[in-house]
Amino acid sequence: MSDYSNLFQSYDMRGMALPHRIVMAPMTRSRAGEGDVQGEMNAEYYAQRASAALIVTEGVQPSLDGKGYCRTPGVHTDEQVAGWKLVTDAVHAKGGRIVCQLMHAGRIAHPLNKSGGNIVSASAVQAGGQMFTMQEGPQDHPVPHALTTDEVKATIAEFRHAGECIQRAGFDGVELHAGQGYLPMQFMSPNVNQRDDEYGGSVANRVRFPIEIMEQLVDVMGADRVGIRIAPGNTFNDVKDENPDETYTALLQGIRPLNPVYLHVVTPFPHMAYNVPENMTDLCRNNFDGTLIRNGGYSAESADAAVASGEADLVAFGKMFLANPDLPKRFETGAELNEWDMDTFYAPGPKGYIDYPALEG
Ligand SMILES: Cc1cc2nc3c(=O)[nH]c(=O)nc-3n(C[C@H](O)[C@H](O)[C@H](O)COP(=O)(O)O)c2cc1C
Repeated sequence: MSDYSNLFQSYDMRGMALPHRIVMAPMTRSRAGEGDVQGEMNAEYYAQRASAALIVTEGVQPSLDGKGYCRTPGVHTDEQVAGWKLVTDAVHAKGGRIVCQLMHAGRIAHPLNKSGGNIVSASAVQAGGQMFTMQEGPQDHPVPHALTTDEVKATIAEFRHAGECIQRAGFDGVELHAGQGYLPMQFMSPNVNQRDDEYGGSVANRVRFPIEIMEQLVDVMGADRVGIRIAPGNTFNDVKDENPDETYTALLQGIRPLNPVYLHVVTPFPHMAYNVPENMTDLCRNNFDGTLIRNGGYSAESADAAVASGEADLVAFGKMFLANPDLPKRFETGAELNEWDMDTFYAPGPKGYIDYPALEG
């Protein structure tokens, strides 16, 4: 047996009783069916991982405009709600808890990956790098359409509608993805946001878009069911911010009165890091009152230490959870871990999805 006693303390997340501190991080798996709908196979994948303290789903688009990658699920049509209901029921039947990550890809998209919808961003600034498409392989990102002020407000309304769908699908909550260079982070990043209306320019204006989305989600689901994910200092998907400390202080101060239940912070890997706040824990703890989830390269040892020191209340694991459906049990017993297979991260079908073995018994 291993002694990760901090990681295995129970935790009360505003009435949600978590048996330990090990969260499953959101991971796009590109295995939705026709109409961007989840089905039985997806329900099995998540149910296999129901021993997580909390499952955060893969990024889910709140609208057709929000879709960037191939075969990602949505949560804005009745069929999609019904598909997700299979997932939430399967996880709940095994005693788990699951929140839906709302991810609007914005300019990180390609028309070949979606059947209609627009490719939008804060400004008409093309992202560097390429986007994978099934039909033609990697392609340049297109120049996005710069949302007008009215369209920004309509996009926020789409998030509200998605929140209502998430509620109907039986989720335990929602996480707004405001990291990794997707639409909310595109608004927060000066190299993408060149607007001169109330959503651009000053730091207060750049953080307005995610704050207004959070207002809508809290209004629909209640503060105890709404979290947000951020990645200060992450340059992934060609975003750049000279002063993330200032930007994220403003964001966290802006959402503080809404009192969302958790803040999920991704520490960027070194090759993607730029001006990462020196003391991320202080930044979060001084400006946010709820639960702090940390993620990015943690091991059981470092996660246990993070909980002990107050660096985190909960720690999310990505790749390890992908490859180990029973990760908490493996940490607890000191069992060997399965290795992940990158070739099947985003490949369609069951291989590398629902066939990672659990421990016997
Ligand atoms: C296959 C894969 C897909 C991912 N998709 C998402 C996603 O949809 N949303 C998100 O916020 N992060 C996504 N991530 C990032 C993970 O949530 C996590 O931040 C990253 O894997 C680092 O954690 P780890 O070191 O424990 O794996 C993805 C990571 C992987 C490996």
